Amino acid sequence: MMVSDLIHDATIDRQDAEVLLASILEVERAWIYAHGDAQVQPTDIHRFRTGVEALISGEPLAYLLGYRDFWTLRLRVTPDVLIPRRETEHLVEWANQCIGDGALRVLDLGTGSGAVALACKSEHPEAEVCGVDLSSQALACARANGRDLALSVEWREGDWFDAVPGERWQLILSNPPYIAADDPHLYAGDLPAEPATALVAGKTGLESLEQIIERAPEFISRGGWLLLEHGFDQAAAVREILANRGFTTVSTRRDWSGQERITGGQWLS
Ligand SMILES: C[S@@+](CC[C@H](N)C(=O)[O-])C[C@H]1O[C@@H](n2cnc3c(N)ncnc32)[C@H](O)[C@@H]1O
Repeated sequence: MMVSDLIHDATIDRQDAEVLLASILEVERAWIYAHGDAQVQPTDIHRFRTGVEALISGEPLAYLLGYRDFWTLRLRVTPDVLIPRRETEHLVEWANQCIGDGALRVLDLGTGSGAVALACKSEHPEAEVCGVDLSSQALACARANGRDLALSVEWREGDWFDAVPGERWQLILSNPPYIAADDPHLYAGDLPAEPATALVAGKTGLESLEQIIERAPEFISRGGWLLLEHGFDQAAAVREILANRGFTTVSTRRDWSGQERITGGQWLS
């Protein structure tokens, strides 16, 4: 069977089909375009069709492939971690500006696959970066990514700041769980397959953000920044919580789709 027929017959998103086949054939996706008339071996056809069935039954492509590209990095992902999202690259972008301005002690709370911590470290090897997660399985994935990418990040297990008692940071980053328990989005896309502990914050969706903002002043250096990713409709609430806690220069940045996505504030007290 030819490459083009296999892709055409797959009843899934064309891009997903191309990425899946490229991964099975161990070629770049561009190769698929250029070699539509190439013959695919029966074993590879079988692997492709099994993959298509898994995708149709709800398995995310990233879990099937075992990786997701994020920033400039290829990260391994397992069902124990959130699949890193493009929106989160805006958090990395802002973080890298702060690090470039001298905020060299960096804490990533809820590091998951290590995406944010590793992307920052890859841009700024001079930074001292620590990633924290409550999940030991997530930390195993983050640690493996750090090892594969030869990026030296310290990984600690614990409940938010409990993992770093008595320490201060110039930059605190987090993409915490921020979905409300009854949000119907939890049943859409990749979300049903991802760990609930990475997605659901509680009744309102703001609980983790509130916990982090409440305790951050105890762990942030004077002049340091706290940058938080949140839901598209949570920016005003997050700005208010930050301002009420005493953060200044509070502002929000939009993601590539125009949604208010990352809010940050500086600690000057
Ligand atoms: C939305 S995921 C973000 C993962 C990763 N930073 C990213 O952007 O792809 C949130 C992460 O926070 C972790 N988490 C949830 N509650 C936590 C807590 N109380 N303390 C530490 N980590 C927590 C989850 O295990 C999950 O890995």
